Amino acid sequence: VSADGTKQFSLTMQAGRTAILPGKPTATWGFNGAFLGPTVRVARGDRVVMRVQNNLGEASTVHWHGMRLPAAMDGGPHQMIAPGASWTPHWTIDQPAATSWYHPHPHGSTALHVYRGLAGLFLVDDPETTGLGLPSTYGVDDVPLILQDKILDADGALSENPKPTWGLIGSQILVNGVYDPYFEVTTTSVRLRILNGSNARMYNVEFADRRRFTVIGTDAGLLSAPAVVDRVQLSPGERLEIVAEFAPREQVVLRSVAGDNGIDEGEHQLLKFVAAEQLKPGKPVPQRLAGTPRIEATAGAHERRFRLSGSDEINGREMDMTRIDEVVPAGATEIWHVQNTVYAHNFHIHEVAFRVLDVNGKQPPAYLQGPKDTVFVPGKSTVRLAVQFGHHTDPTAPYMYHCHILRHEDKGMMGQFVIV
Ligand code: C2O
Ligand code: CU
Ligand code: CU
Repeated sequence: VSADGTKQFSLTMQAGRTAILPGKPTATWGFNGAFLGPTVRVARGDRVVMRVQNNLGEASTVHWHGMRLPAAMDGGPHQMIAPGASWTPHWTIDQPAATSWYHPHPHGSTALHVYRGLAGLFLVDDPETTGLGLPSTYGVDDVPLILQDKILDADGALSENPKPTWGLIGSQILVNGVYDPYFEVTTTSVRLRILNGSNARMYNVEFADRRRFTVIGTDAGLLSAPAVVDRVQLSPGERLEIVAEFAPREQVVLRSVAGDNGIDEGEHQLLKFVAAEQLKPGKPVPQRLAGTPRIEATAGAHERRFRLSGSDEINGREMDMTRIDEVVPAGATEIWHVQNTVYAHNFHIHEVAFRVLDVNGKQPPAYLQGPKDTVFVPGKSTVRLAVQFGHHTDPTAPYMYHCHILRHEDKGMMGQFVIV
């Protein structure tokens, strides 16, 4: 924190080596270290300055996925940082409490840069929600879980050979960069902030004993009321906050089970929970969570249509860095129809928060009705979103919307919009 109250963060992109498999160090990339990046934590109202230094041998960018900010600070493909150079975006945090993240976004190389290890969490606290009594001791009862899959070959190296449709999709699952991890539970309630930080893999997350747990938040903030479930699905880029209950001395595995989305989704152990002899009791999750009103589109709201086809096109066109596809008025709430004509994709919009109105005309499950910025779009389906845009105008600097399966994004399943 500097004298004028600005919070300054420093993130250096660098190469290193990480012990993922025992005795076989893996060449990886990270922020301020060899692999992944530190959790950035801010509060609503903070003025932040991020100093991003690129010590890699190639140009990259850092995008603040989920942050509401001016387009020139967004870190998309237009804000490239040359090797050896730095970039210093700054903005004021003005959004509800949420689990966001950051990762590179250089057009054509996002998949490789994220896969090599460049990703971190960006948590927003909001004084309005800290009074809810949710578990909030970081690393103790408020635990981030970054889910990623890798293809590690016999000598421990990251394989960078993409599979035809999905790209880099592997069967070694890492949680926070750790292979075969466990967590020592010391409290009866544990909040998990789960990020699907994978390039393409979908996770269908449940406890092996099928115990129920409570979803409290989606990508862009808390749900208005908790949703009790026994399984959740996360496509790449999506986040969920859940609260799970544990008894003394028990052991239970969090796993991902096979799905029917057409993406290679086998069964994988994610994380083993090992509870202590005695657990510190937690408070029950309150029945009302976010105070933020639900995102509503009014009658006559502007509607736009996006058709996903192949693995590289939206509305019949590939991404063009020099073309602005959509111009949106500041502060608008619009209805976006995302029609997927082929196999599974997803859809992420920078800067905004949206609510999923329906999937093929049907309401999504309660746990997906919170504020979001990324949504799974099943094969041959249409998803309708009520999209709330911010107030940072700039006719020359675009924001992106795209499929967050990173191979598809790199190949051109991405478009650009400006807010004016
Ligand atoms: Cu998480 Cu445009 O990205
Ligand atoms: Cu984003
Ligand atoms: Cu896709």
